[in-house]
Amino acid sequence: MILVTGGAGFIGSNFVLDWLRQHDEGIVNVDKLTYAGNLATLKSLSGDPRHIFVHADIGDAPAIERVLAEHRPRAVLHFAAESHVDRSIHGPAAFVQTNVVGTFTLLEAVRGYWNTLDADARLAFRFLHVSTDEVFGSLNADDPPFSETTAYAPNSPYSASKAGSDHLVRAYHHTYGLPVLTTNCSNNYGPHHFPEKLIPLMILNAIDGKSLPVYGDGKNVRDWLYVSDHCAAIRTVLSAGRVGETYNVGGWNEMANLDVVHLLCDLLDEMKPKASGSYRDQITFVTDRPGHDRRYAIDARKIERELGWRPAETFATGLRKTVQWYLDHPQWVRDVATGDYRKWVQTQYSSSN
Ligand code: NAD
Ligand code: DAU
Repeated sequence: MILVTGGAGFIGSNFVLDWLRQHDEGIVNVDKLTYAGNLATLKSLSGDPRHIFVHADIGDAPAIERVLAEHRPRAVLHFAAESHVDRSIHGPAAFVQTNVVGTFTLLEAVRGYWNTLDADARLAFRFLHVSTDEVFGSLNADDPPFSETTAYAPNSPYSASKAGSDHLVRAYHHTYGLPVLTTNCSNNYGPHHFPEKLIPLMILNAIDGKSLPVYGDGKNVRDWLYVSDHCAAIRTVLSAGRVGETYNVGGWNEMANLDVVHLLCDLLDEMKPKASGSYRDQITFVTDRPGHDRRYAIDARKIERELGWRPAETFATGLRKTVQWYLDHPQWVRDVATGDYRKWVQTQYSSSN
């Protein structure tokens, strides 16, 4: 049995579904079900004894201690976080609470549990922390991509809180010997992505006939990775990663935001043509994100060299699959759209549109 935190979110749910397609080993999935947690995503697992869902906050020490004592996992994979940069600018407190204090509370509970294991189980145990490339800050156009030795320079409350969690995880290995692994991944995209983030927001706004709000000049660069490739990287690091190491995970796929939006519009023009004109006509430039990082790029050579992982999808294949998934799942989209998301969209875009 493995324990996953945040398994009802975008990457966590993809991880749970992929894992159970490939393994008989069960998962206990601990999630607080914030606005970003969506159990509808895991509907196909209802009645499957390999998936046990526990509704709990990682900051609730007694609840986490109970789950660990009851299910005795061989590994903890920590996905749970507040994850949206714009939300962290509007309300940083939840980010410090979950990403820093929550991770600390989880680490303490795991350390206590790990200390109860026998010598072999202690050696085999893993705590895998899922982190982000944003902890490294922002690159200039001609800077080399982030490597595992790039100095931390987080710029948003989100990335600062993730950096704090990375440092705690590192310290728990250095000080207590907890067998930790950390992955720092670039921007993910794919099915079940909450439509507050660039790619799903653009797809859904486009087909709803709404404007496509590009921040600033649209030239900020991200390094996109299809979510199932990230999940495969995490499985690889869990099974073969060297304890105490960090691994950068990326798609070798840098692209400016405006180019991403153009690609999405072109795919939609082909896959769901409008009566007249192109989806590109809906693009609007809106006020930039405060402190907006200009460029992220990942040097993923270490995980390839040491563990043999490389992304399987190209951006062309992954983006097409993603657009198709959103077109094929109107009910999932409707469920999300009836929730908190609507209020969030108003807060974020009312002044610029
Ligand atoms: P998400 O926002 O879609 O999902 C987060 C999940 O965590 C939700 O199910 C939510 O309910 C849960 N959660 C939040 N606070 C919690 C708490 N206190 N206790 C228990 N559960 C809680 O996020 P995501 O995009 O799936 O990201 C998952 C992880 O991967 C995060 O740690 C994020 O920093 C990291 N990451 C994300 C990306 C990306 O592009 N999305 C890239 C690199 C790393
Ligand atoms: O790099 C990894 C990170 O990627 C993860 O750690 C974060 O959890 C994840 O949210 C993501 O952060 P970004 O801020 O890069 O992702 P987002 O989808 O919010 O924005 C991508 C780019 O698109 C960014 O430059 C801002 C821009 N953008 C975003 C939105 C929502 C727009 O131009 N318009 C928009 O409406």
